Amino acid sequence: MDRIRIRGGHRLSGEIPISGAKNAALKLMAASILTAEPLILANVPRLADVRAMAELLMSFGVAIQMNLSPHLGEGDTMRLEAKEITSAFASYDMVRKMRASFQVLGPLLARRGEAKVSLPGGCAIGARPVELHLSALQQMGARVDLVDGYVVATAPGGLKGAEIVFPFVSVGATETAMMAASLAKGVTRIVNAAREPEIADLGRCLIAMGAKISGLGSSEIVVEGVERLHGASHRVMPDRIEAGTYAIATAIAGGEVELVGATHETIASLLSLLAKSGADVTDTPRGLKVAMNGSRPRPSDVTTAPYPGFPTDLQAQIMALMTVAEGTSVIREKIFENRFMHVPELARMGADVRIDGDTATVRGVTKLKGAPVMATDLRASVSLVLAGLAAEGETMVGRVYHLDRGFDRLEEKLSRVGADISRVPE
Ligand code: UD1
Repeated sequence: MDRIRIRGGHRLSGEIPISGAKNAALKLMAASILTAEPLILANVPRLADVRAMAELLMSFGVAIQMNLSPHLGEGDTMRLEAKEITSAFASYDMVRKMRASFQVLGPLLARRGEAKVSLPGGCAIGARPVELHLSALQQMGARVDLVDGYVVATAPGGLKGAEIVFPFVSVGATETAMMAASLAKGVTRIVNAAREPEIADLGRCLIAMGAKISGLGSSEIVVEGVERLHGASHRVMPDRIEAGTYAIATAIAGGEVELVGATHETIASLLSLLAKSGADVTDTPRGLKVAMNGSRPRPSDVTTAPYPGFPTDLQAQIMALMTVAEGTSVIREKIFENRFMHVPELARMGADVRIDGDTATVRGVTKLKGAPVMATDLRASVSLVLAGLAAEGETMVGRVYHLDRGFDRLEEKLSRVGADISRVPE
């Protein structure tokens, strides 16, 4: 299996194009099930997860055509046409590999009145159950049975509008409810909805397809069901996690990088933290610019929270930065249990981190040292790449498939701005 080799100590300079958001693209693709007409998505990122979702959708009978852009900054175009849904079955093998594939459940049920989708099972970053998705669908009139590890859902008479009050915020469950409600009879009110920008992006696409949705971006989303949805074209929003990751890369390696296509407001919590740590952050006509003069970052305390709070998907990366800060930082992970698996790997590079439950205390060291390390999940693996940029000597990151799931041509983007990074075939 390929590995990524980084030789640390190079300042970054230039521009990095930000790709379309993985977490928006996967749900937008699933939304194609809701209509028999073509859905055209632009700015689709080139990722293993996108290919996996395409494969799953094709197994349901969705016809997919890709138009690959020759330019790194442009994103690909995907045409999805679900003229007829020939199967509504998502296997354990599929859902286990990529949890987001569970989110075909709502659209399949809404369009076909039945679906059999595997439970995701345990995953590297905690239990990640799906009871909120299921109870939302049940409240909309679905019958849900759990059989041999599968969710078997039916709604022979169609789904009905309902008042769904989530006991806590879930991105995926909000999206499941919103997609299913688009084709339900009557009005659905989703209370305590998640406010992540990717949900609003999905909502805008559904509206372009003829859905009646209000309250996007707020914690109360109202969906008035329609009989059918139609085809549409939609541009996937820029990936705020990718943008945030490269902002942190610049802060840890030093230098000045323009993140073309990045939107400030979607990562405001990170950017204000970077500014406190000593980085210069400025908005530009094309995105934003991050500069750091090479001095050690100031320490900062961070607690992850639902949007607009600090994203859990940037926790591992900000920890990489804090490992070289001038002082001690306290990082609290409040969204997922078990999301500190990057810590032992960072420790192999000389980081000083102590974990106590959901809290990591990071004592900054003057210098990290390159080492062979192992990626454990998507965001953890990129934190090791960031640490490698700042470390003395060579870092080899193994299990690169984690990176390929969520970061579009990472080594190409980073080497363009002066990092010494390459893919080494095993
Ligand atoms: C999405 C993102 C993921 C991000 C997360 C939080 C995608 C593909 N993934 O994941 O990158 O880290 O949001 O911003 O968009 N929970 C339950 N029961 C449920 C649903 C969730 O207990 O039915 C829990 C989860 O275990 C977790 C918390 O709620 O502790 C938040 O999860 P959720 O917001 O649903 O995350 P995902 O949609 O899976």
